[in-house]
Amino acid sequence: MSEILNDPKSETKTSLPSLKAVKGMSDVLPAEGKKWLAFEAMIRQWLSLYGYEFVRTPIVEHQAVFTRAVGAATDIVEKEMYSFTDRLNHDELVLRPEGTAAAVRMALEHHLLYDAPRRVWYMGPMFRHERPQKGRYRQFHQVGVEALGFSGAQVDVEMILMGARLWKMLGISDVELHINNLGQAQERAEYRQALIAYLEPHKASLDEDSQRRLYTNPLRILDSKDEAVKKIVEGAPVLSDFLKEESRAHFDQVLALLDRVGIVYRLNTALVRGLDYYNLTVFEWVSGAIGAQSTICGGGRYDGLIEMMGGKSTPACGFALGMERVMSLWHNTHFVDSATDVYWVYQTDQALEVAVSLSEQLREHGIRSMVHAGVNTAQSLKAQLKKADASGARWVCVVGQDELESKMISIKTLHNAQGEAVQGEQVCVAQESLLVWVSRALQSE
Ligand code: HAM
Repeated sequence: MSEILNDPKSETKTSLPSLKAVKGMSDVLPAEGKKWLAFEAMIRQWLSLYGYEFVRTPIVEHQAVFTRAVGAATDIVEKEMYSFTDRLNHDELVLRPEGTAAAVRMALEHHLLYDAPRRVWYMGPMFRHERPQKGRYRQFHQVGVEALGFSGAQVDVEMILMGARLWKMLGISDVELHINNLGQAQERAEYRQALIAYLEPHKASLDEDSQRRLYTNPLRILDSKDEAVKKIVEGAPVLSDFLKEESRAHFDQVLALLDRVGIVYRLNTALVRGLDYYNLTVFEWVSGAIGAQSTICGGGRYDGLIEMMGGKSTPACGFALGMERVMSLWHNTHFVDSATDVYWVYQTDQALEVAVSLSEQLREHGIRSMVHAGVNTAQSLKAQLKKADASGARWVCVVGQDELESKMISIKTLHNAQGEAVQGEQVCVAQESLLVWVSRALQSE
């Protein structure tokens, strides 16, 4: 049976059109699956260092959660949200494009901020209908961190230190921190007027996107990639000239703390971020090693969002990293490559029964065990041993006719603890001593 499934020709027998994943949305295949698991384990370890609590929000939310929070004139809300009307109750729903608004919705709905601030984190898929290219997907994954209810420069710096520590843990160098001060909404409104007044005479020379944004979201024109627009923007008024003492003082303290802990940054006045909820500190980590989609992580302060979503005025700060982008920079070779510690091969139905029951006994004690499957007893031991080798198992346990009669198991070492193939000798162990033998062998590593 398994031979038939493995035959690619057998898949073409049907005349049905082949089914494919949606464009921009990827499968994680077994080989990458190992890397994902190792990465997620690293993420958990990293976040535990900072005392963040794990949360999970639904993938589907009411559209209003994001239109209100992210901003009506942003790319995300204007053109990238997967939105649909629930056929049954006509709710306007979306696949979440980001996690911050969802986390705030959750905190408000469950009164999480009632008596104390909260540090939370989440991990999962986000959806944006963007043009797919390397590093840009329609379903991608984020790890997000939100510090809800914290004011003060220290938390902004905590966010940045967290990023720096993760890059260090993952051995990722060649990342640059870009940082900017967006001030407060009122200051930005005044700046906005000045920016529009400056750009209006240049309107005809702006690209289509920037023309469209001129009156809706002119700050986004500052980080346009269009060469002609970049030239025009060089002479534009700068936001920092519109910031009042309090906004400057907050940002100065952030920079002073960063200097103090030795974090190198680049002040980037064009950095405005693609979501409207930010104020004061915004930042992005940019990699020099992954091409055009080089921002691996971004975030900032969003003191107005919780009130805007119906809560009491509460300061907050956060960031999210793109898992695919960060993982593409992570060259880890240390994740466990084998699917199992022990692989069982057998000759008869009776031998299979022994293998199945001893396998369960090993698993009961935390030892990974896999019984050769999908065969009839006609499959030769040689063919089964080939599969055992391919599984990456440390040991193969053989139950042949001799072993069955003598209540013994033959064990052969296939790989060492580092996953390297070895020519191990064969030993014979009594069935009732197998657990002790394998446990000792694992402990002696
Ligand atoms: P964002 O900058 O939109 O921020 O996304 C954060 C990160 O997600 C980006 O830096 C990038 O690495 C990754 N990313 C975004 N879009 C894609 C895509 N289409 N394909 C692959 N990766 C992508 C936010 O989402 C905010 N919620 C971050 C935040 C949390 N701010 C405060 N708290």
